[in-house]
Amino acid sequence: MTEAPRPKLLRTLTGEAFERPPVWFMRQAGRSLPEYRELRTRAKDFLAFCYDPEMAAEATLQPMRRFPFDAAIVFADILLIPQALGQEVWFEAGEGPRLGPLPEVAALAGEIEASTGRLASIGETLSRVRSALEPERALIGFAGAPWTVATYMIEGRGSDRSGARAFAYSQPERLDQILEVLVEATARYLVLQARSGAQVLKLFESWAEGLAEDVFQRVVVKPHQEIIRRVRAAGVDAPFIGFPRGAGALVDIYADAVPVQAVGLDTQASLAQGRRIQAGGKAIQGALDNLLLREGGSAMDARIDALIEGWSPGPYIFNLGHGVLPDTPVAHIERAVRRITGK
Ligand code: CP3
Repeated sequence: MTEAPRPKLLRTLTGEAFERPPVWFMRQAGRSLPEYRELRTRAKDFLAFCYDPEMAAEATLQPMRRFPFDAAIVFADILLIPQALGQEVWFEAGEGPRLGPLPEVAALAGEIEASTGRLASIGETLSRVRSALEPERALIGFAGAPWTVATYMIEGRGSDRSGARAFAYSQPERLDQILEVLVEATARYLVLQARSGAQVLKLFESWAEGLAEDVFQRVVVKPHQEIIRRVRAAGVDAPFIGFPRGAGALVDIYADAVPVQAVGLDTQASLAQGRRIQAGGKAIQGALDNLLLREGGSAMDARIDALIEGWSPGPYIFNLGHGVLPDTPVAHIERAVRRITGK
């Protein structure tokens, strides 16, 4: 019997470097694809879509049929955790997420155990996708990181996060308690995902920008360390990708302190910064500007070549600096992926 080929993405996460890096794109499933928009009309609302394993598995697989991506990312959302912990969450069409009043910490803590059960259908989505996906393509599970999720829970919507950053100073103990609830619920959720077929676990810290170094340590570094510790304690050895988007120079602190296998870099990361992280023994992922993907053309080709030339001597996963924008032409995604993979 021949052994199934080990996905290139997983090999990169254990330190191998390739002339052509493995590639996937954040938000590769979603509104840039006409077949997603069609599927979306069949769901009552976006959250119902996420909780429906058949539809969510289909949305996860749609970009895998179109493009030679090395990995699929499960179709779900970072705001499923606050909902599973009992805070009301809904999406206003064309505007984004809205959340009801922030529950008391004791109420949130009382829901931790039940929250994992409420997220069981995401495990079902993962196992469906894993059995449909070719063995050489990896499956990524994810969760929002505690600080980013807390910003939505505190502010009640997408925002400039100044309210949440002020909360970190005005109610430090309460914030730490909320983060502790999120650490535990998130660790359990990631364990569920790994046991259901996720081979890589990604923490989306989408709002790491604008934090003072001491606050960054407290609300980003510590919770990430603690989640990974608890996931490992449960016997899960899947590699982690941590993405502290907007952290700027603090990315170096993150890369040194958090035991992830790869650090996601955003659009502003320098080639030198990426190489430093690789030299420190971690893979990196990123960081093509999603606006450049949308605009396409020879400027995009040139930047793709520069990123590969700059970073592929070390372990590197090609990705964007942030998610695919909804109005990105499919032809530009095709062109980019062809340029990266040579396929
Ligand atoms: O393809 C993938 O990347 C997997 C699926 C995925 C979604 N959301 C689907 C989605 C992932 C990984 C996320 C993560 C997520 N969700 C983040 C972190 C990454 C980032 O983009 O910063 C954040 C901050 C959210 C919260 C969220 N969900 C917002 C702010 C919005 C509204 C803005 C928007 O793009 O509409 C969502 C909705 C959402 N999540 C959609 C999708 C496909 C669009 C909903 C729709 O189809 O109507």
